[in-house]
Amino acid sequence: LKNNQQNQAPEKFLTVGMLSRRSGVPVSAIHFYERKGLIRSERDASNYRRFPRSVLRVLAVIRVGQGAGIRLEEIRERLGDAAQSSTLTASDWARISAGWESDLNTRIAALSRMRDRLTGCIGCGCLSMASCPSINPGDRAAGDGPGAPGLDGRV
Ligand code: FES
Repeated sequence: LKNNQQNQAPEKFLTVGMLSRRSGVPVSAIHFYERKGLIRSERDASNYRRFPRSVLRVLAVIRVGQGAGIRLEEIRERLGDAAQSSTLTASDWARISAGWESDLNTRIAALSRMRDRLTGCIGCGCLSMASCPSINPGDRAAGDGPGAPGLDGRV
């Protein structure tokens, strides 16, 4: 039996359960990604969803992107037509990952600033409006828009 299984060509299309087991991505997430246009399925003669085996690579890219904190919308935009093609190539991956680099660098810089500001606060607890760098003394950042511009890279 083992030799028979080894000699069989891998199936070109997978059920959502097979895709989930092989990728480690929950079925609910696979359906969510499909609704969001990141992956695609086809219908078989019985009208069941079947996913091209190539979707495994797309799922891997999605999970890597999410692990790096990339927004799903950004992942979808970067995938572009590659998500709908039959094969996600090495050059597709190079293009996608290069596109994420500046976003990652921006967030790394913001996190580094946050770490540097927190260093003086850890164990302090004063929350001084005059001198604590974590609470925006004098509301200097008010002119930079809503949110926390000092932490998200705008300042
Ligand atoms: S809590 Fe004291 S300096 Fe920030």
